[in-house]
Amino acid sequence: MDILVLILAAGKGTRMRSSLPKVLQPLAGRPMIFHLLDAVGALSEMLEEAEQRVLPAIIEGFSGEQLRAVVNQAYPDMAWVVQSEQLGTGHAVMQALPLIEDSDITLILLGDAPLVYPDTLRALCQSAEKNGFALLTTIMEEPFGYGRIVRDEHNHLLAIVEEKDASAMQKLITEVNTGMMAIRSARLKTYLSQLDNCNAQQEYYLTDLIGLMAKDGLMMETVLTEDLSESLGVNNRAQLAEAEAVLRYRQAQMLLHAGVTLIDPQRIDVQGTVEVGEDCVIEPNVFLAGSVVLGNGVRIESGCRLSNCVIGDEVVIHSHSVIDGAVIEQGAEIGPFARLRAHSHLARGAKVGNFVELKNAKIREFSKINHLSYIGDCEMGSYCNIGAGTITCNYDGANKWQTVIGDNVFVGSNSALIAPVTLGDGATVGAGSVISKAVLPEQLAVTRAAMKTKDHYQRAKKK
Ligand code: UD1
Ligand code: CA
Repeated sequence: MDILVLILAAGKGTRMRSSLPKVLQPLAGRPMIFHLLDAVGALSEMLEEAEQRVLPAIIEGFSGEQLRAVVNQAYPDMAWVVQSEQLGTGHAVMQALPLIEDSDITLILLGDAPLVYPDTLRALCQSAEKNGFALLTTIMEEPFGYGRIVRDEHNHLLAIVEEKDASAMQKLITEVNTGMMAIRSARLKTYLSQLDNCNAQQEYYLTDLIGLMAKDGLMMETVLTEDLSESLGVNNRAQLAEAEAVLRYRQAQMLLHAGVTLIDPQRIDVQGTVEVGEDCVIEPNVFLAGSVVLGNGVRIESGCRLSNCVIGDEVVIHSHSVIDGAVIEQGAEIGPFARLRAHSHLARGAKVGNFVELKNAKIREFSKINHLSYIGDCEMGSYCNIGAGTITCNYDGANKWQTVIGDNVFVGSNSALIAPVTLGDGATVGAGSVISKAVLPEQLAVTRAAMKTKDHYQRAKKK
């Protein structure tokens, strides 16, 4: 059984009030539709064993070019169907008729309902295989805006009535259409051609299929999801924020179940993928983006932002540190208020303290840069102590240059290291020095002017 998955995404998304197509609106850091495409991908993997093929296609219209470009980068095998005029969800599906011909089951999804679980999609497909048609519904206390499910006295599906067409009585119905359905393709073809646009919006409603099939006494099943979050349709930015909260909740649950202590599960943002070891602790308001790997026993204090980094066992990251594109090894300590930029690497036990910025800097075991420094384009050995306010002057206005520091080097506070420059093993730099040529191993270099004193000095006095 081949399953054609049609994802409706041709609408303009007027209620979003945005120049970006609705399904590309960022949700947990990725275009909204990517979450749905991931669920379809997971469905495909599940059905592989049963040798069922899942063939996804997106129905595009408004701003199709932009949508195609973004989606094709991440999902290059996507099939596309054009709906050049947006005459309704039923009309959108009609545009895909040539694809429907070749499939056994058609699973219809809405690009703006991205939070469905793969298991639910599988349940829909299985039910359609058995019963010919399956619709995903849910109960909503506040059903405003959703199509209402109308049933007869035997609880059989009779119709779906859209908000704008519903009578006052029908508006009280709390069982709603999520928009997701699976149907035998042959049946879909028969009934698609019978849709009309005689309704409040003069659109070809896909939801009218139900009424037509009910008239012919066809078997129809509903799958009821009790997880409201699955059926959230994102039409405006308030619903986008709701969807964001859903994903935030799901990510937090995932972390908790993976063995992370979250001091406040409602105040963590994950916008990407996180791998975690055991016994990590994450304080409130931490933001994790891209791909983040945490070892065992990592502690991240409040207000940190980590993206695309690998953090080793027992690392402590103090409050308000920002780490992007760095590798940090076991037992290193960072922050508070540190910034580690791309290609920074801290080896075991290294320390980077408050108001220190690192960029493209390799710091070996147990070296310390504890306060107020900029270390860029630098290789530093082990057991160094870099005094407060030390700056690697890596940029001459046109080019970036390297600073190479050996093992066991001591740099006094407020020194400037003018790159390219080398400090040999065991070298010492006196505080306040400007180092512009190599310091050899074990040498002391001081460049500050000698101190002068005047005894009994009289400061000028105000008249
Ligand atoms: C739709 C359903 C409603 C359901 C709700 C669930 C219909 C008629 N209504 O309403 O019963 O409760 O979803 O979220 O199906 N689209 C096209 N081409 C079109 C029109 C829409 O591709 O001509 C796409 C949109 O881009 C969107 C999806 O279909 O991704 C749903 O369209 P939308 O206008 O948001 O429908 P709702 O009013 O939310
Ligand atoms: Ca919608």
